[in-house]
Amino acid sequence: MLTSDEIRSTFINFFEKKKHSYAVPSPVVPESDPTLLFINAGMNQFKDVFLGHKKPDTPRAVNSQPCIRVSGKHNDLEDVGFDFTHLTFFEMLGNWSFGDYYKKEAISWAWELFTELFKIDKSKLVATVFQDDAESLTLWQTQTDINHHQIVKCDEKDNFWEMGATGPCGPCSEIHVYLKPGPMPYPLTQDIINNGDFIELWNLVFIAFDRKASGKLIPLADQHVDTGAGLERLVAYLQGTASNYDTDLFKPIIKQIEQLSKIPYTQTAKGMPHRVCADHIRTLCFGIADNVILSNEGRGYVLRRLLRRACRYAKQLGFEEPVLYKLVDSVVVSLGKTYPIIKQRQDYIKQVVKAEEASFLETLQQGLLRFEDIVHQLKQDKQTIISGEAAFKLYDTYGFPLDLTAVLAKENKLQVDVDAFEECLNQQRERSRSAAKFNQQQQPKQSNVVADLFKDCKLHLAEDLNIAKGGEARIIADPVEKVNMACHHSATHILHHCLRQELGEHIQQAGSLVDSNRLRFDFSHFEKLSDQQLKAIEQKANDMIQAKLPVNVNITTLESAKNQGAIALFGEKYDPSRVRVVDIGSQSIECCAGTHVQNTSQIECVKILTETAISAGNRRLEAVAGVKTISQVLNQDIEKLTPQLNILKEQFDHALSTEKSTSENQVVYKQLNQLINQKNPTDLK
Ligand code: SER
Repeated sequence: MLTSDEIRSTFINFFEKKKHSYAVPSPVVPESDPTLLFINAGMNQFKDVFLGHKKPDTPRAVNSQPCIRVSGKHNDLEDVGFDFTHLTFFEMLGNWSFGDYYKKEAISWAWELFTELFKIDKSKLVATVFQDDAESLTLWQTQTDINHHQIVKCDEKDNFWEMGATGPCGPCSEIHVYLKPGPMPYPLTQDIINNGDFIELWNLVFIAFDRKASGKLIPLADQHVDTGAGLERLVAYLQGTASNYDTDLFKPIIKQIEQLSKIPYTQTAKGMPHRVCADHIRTLCFGIADNVILSNEGRGYVLRRLLRRACRYAKQLGFEEPVLYKLVDSVVVSLGKTYPIIKQRQDYIKQVVKAEEASFLETLQQGLLRFEDIVHQLKQDKQTIISGEAAFKLYDTYGFPLDLTAVLAKENKLQVDVDAFEECLNQQRERSRSAAKFNQQQQPKQSNVVADLFKDCKLHLAEDLNIAKGGEARIIADPVEKVNMACHHSATHILHHCLRQELGEHIQQAGSLVDSNRLRFDFSHFEKLSDQQLKAIEQKANDMIQAKLPVNVNITTLESAKNQGAIALFGEKYDPSRVRVVDIGSQSIECCAGTHVQNTSQIECVKILTETAISAGNRRLEAVAGVKTISQVLNQDIEKLTPQLNILKEQFDHALSTEKSTSENQVVYKQLNQLINQKNPTDLK
């Protein structure tokens, strides 16, 4: 029996022999396609080539591409766990022609690979063709030895493939396999193929159009081939099972779940928790390895939803403590050799998953109790629909994503009023939008007259562009204040850079506040920073300041900024034709419109004051820059301590005069000493 590794390499080697170049799979987070949350097909990285916007590196390509289908047009989440075939993460084997070969070769090579190399029984295979694509029908009849009654015409719903609402698309021809023993039904129809006795193994797409937002199909200058075969399904079939979860791709994960839970896996409804946890942990591994930060928005929320859904199933297996993070090891066992990124980031992925599990488990139990109350009430009232408000409360207060509530509802034969939930969500969004708008309106624009005041301050003055996060929020008329502000702004960039160096590339700015006497920097990270880490970050930042690094500012396109290695803020909208890049000693490079110093020496030094949590997965650094400002801030702290010191001193005197027990005296004395020690915190460099 072929292993999954052998099946993957047989596919790739077959096409390499047919002059296809191996294309390195892209990360699961699309690099520059705002229409996609995650890579959902092997062809995504070639979208611009298909549309004629980019020249291909080679005319033919092949690979196995990790894909995530949890949102948008291709979303399999709802089915995961209920059956044995749907997955949120899968590998797609694919071969591509960029304006090179077309239908004839694609069809005959697919047949050759399946029937000669994988030796799939020809009498079990069906080829579907788009009803208007007479050419493909003829090619199947003339270029292969498939029985003609095993070729079935299908409509647009099944045989016209589109990447998303817009983009490359075209008719397709799919290869399905009959799963039942004995001969397949005769005659075959589209409905029979879709009745569950067949599974689709390979999709050959003949890309010929660009679907525009208006719905119009525009013919492309060149015609291309884009094929995709889900590795897990193919492996399942070739390994003689109808279930993905019984292949060697999943067995190590399922086995680990069985060992940890002591509950054996079965191919029944009882095995659903095993299946959900095994599927979701693979998706989480790849998403987190590619730096998705679990959050309440976009990709981060998609992964958070998955993790929370898996947590709830892990709880069904009896786990009260974080456990999913342990499964990362078995994902690495099964896929780490093929995709080294998950092995390289194994510890990091585990830390992220564990921290997120721990934080959700705190509210999961209360949320489940709340859910039981809802069910109880509905049953009493003989109702079957969970109201939008109730679902929203579960989401907002207990962190239950809508699909988790929907799964729980389904198990209790209830439904959720999704429209009313969306309405509540929109109202909440509207409330936060109005608050944000109000804050923006408080920020007057920088005027040229004011800018003139600061000609001699040796600063890079802010542009009137897309004032990015961290840009000035108000006009400053005092040059000293302006310089202090610039020092704090440049210090923010330096700290951001040092955080990434010390903790890893996953650090993303989540917000910041720059003032003339302090700075605040919010960032994504899964755990508290140790004293050692904070010291190292502060030291690195002060090294950069003392190295007297030049700060350069240039205006360029977004693409060239990215080529320079500039960090653009996640979720921030930039004008692709004009961004401002702030480069500090070629070390910290960020797209930013704010005022900065011209040399790091102007900052003098930086001192981190506090590091705290602001929400699950998000931390906050507060810091001060400049010798004078630092000593002012520390003196203010000392001032604040003085009354407390006086009270303690009085208590101590009183204790001594009334000869209270020595141990109590010692406690007061210790507290006093601690405060006195805090009076001398200045280890300023
Ligand atoms: N793009 C097609 C699919 O995803 C073939 O790879 O099915």
